[in-house]
Amino acid sequence: RFTPTPQDKFTFGLWTVGWQGRDPFGEATRPALDPVESVERLAELGAHGVTFHDDDLIPFGSSDAQREAVVKRFKDALERTGLKVPMATTNLFTHPVFKDGAFTANDRDVRRYALRKTIRNIDLAVELGATTYVAWGGREGAESGAAKDVRVALDRMKEAFDLLGEYVTEQGYDLRFAIEPKPNEPRGDILLPTIGHALAFIERLERPELVGVNPETGHEQMAGLNFPHGIAQALWAGKLYHIDLNGQSGIKYDQDFRFGAGDLRQAFWLVDLLETAGYEGPRHFDFKPVRTDGFDGVWESAKNCMRNYLILKERAAAFRADSEAQEALVASRLDELAQPTAADGLKALLADASAYEEFDVDAAAERSMAFERLDQLAMEHLLGVR
Ligand code: GCO
Ligand code: MN
Ligand code: MN
Ligand code: MN
Repeated sequence: RFTPTPQDKFTFGLWTVGWQGRDPFGEATRPALDPVESVERLAELGAHGVTFHDDDLIPFGSSDAQREAVVKRFKDALERTGLKVPMATTNLFTHPVFKDGAFTANDRDVRRYALRKTIRNIDLAVELGATTYVAWGGREGAESGAAKDVRVALDRMKEAFDLLGEYVTEQGYDLRFAIEPKPNEPRGDILLPTIGHALAFIERLERPELVGVNPETGHEQMAGLNFPHGIAQALWAGKLYHIDLNGQSGIKYDQDFRFGAGDLRQAFWLVDLLETAGYEGPRHFDFKPVRTDGFDGVWESAKNCMRNYLILKERAAAFRADSEAQEALVASRLDELAQPTAADGLKALLADASAYEEFDVDAAAERSMAFERLDQLAMEHLLGVR
């Protein structure tokens, strides 16, 4: 029970279990992890796949020969274990050259380099079978007002995604992009800070169908937003191309806890949503095993990201199957929300005296929505007491 299999589609970034615990105040607390060992351990734990930034796999500055050798060893490990690579991404934030951004750096040569670095790794991603390419613009932003002309920077951001879209179209690649929003950290303020900003940006692109979002639990919560609501809107827009699951407690630094830690109630409603909305993409964990722990904690937390998802999946399904919960949903008139407001049309609405002239606003205002009982039922399923 609660033991994952590859059919559950759980995936992990190499940079998650491989995080050495460096933070702004302290050095690494764990040694580097060989990507091949990560592949083997994650396969043993029941994961479906791994994802990577170019530099997670191939150390920055490697020669072509070194690169080839690393890729070959990695491919062998994938073949041996059956692990897939459904997604890849680019590191456009670690090297100091990206200190003012990549696609929106003020320096044009840095922007051109960033695009070439991205395209180089897109080729590898496709070679490894990836169908999603994530773009997290952690360095795209500013700490002060005059430093970035945001409207012009958005022109450059659009230019970058239009060029990338042109590239994958010309190559005939089966690859879509997923923009990952984040409000701040490492920049003081990051461009495309939330799911909503990203969705609006995508509609301005030359090939909007090639671009969706990769929302991360903690990033929306750092902005004080409701993550399941944001995911629901991304699904509604047909734009949930990928998802980064982790844990976060409120508006503070990016905690990247394992999935299930932090806001457990939002985690419950998120799993309920993904499982009932028919989301078929990977359940990707982007977390950082706490730096207090050794490798015991790394593998324990990786295992428990998946375990917590499966527990919440069972709890959410139990809530949906409970006849009392179903009655409570009707008492709260969720079925009525599903009815169109004016299927009879605007003309009939305007002619309907019961809609306005004869509408008893006081009587309607007195009807209880009965949400308290409904939420308690859900909470008792979450707590495992029903
Ligand atoms: C973060 C980000 C990053 C990105 C990843 C993909 O926690 O700030 O999530 O981890 O997801 O680097 O580019
Ligand atoms: Mn994060
Ligand atoms: Mn992420
Ligand atoms: Mn992350």
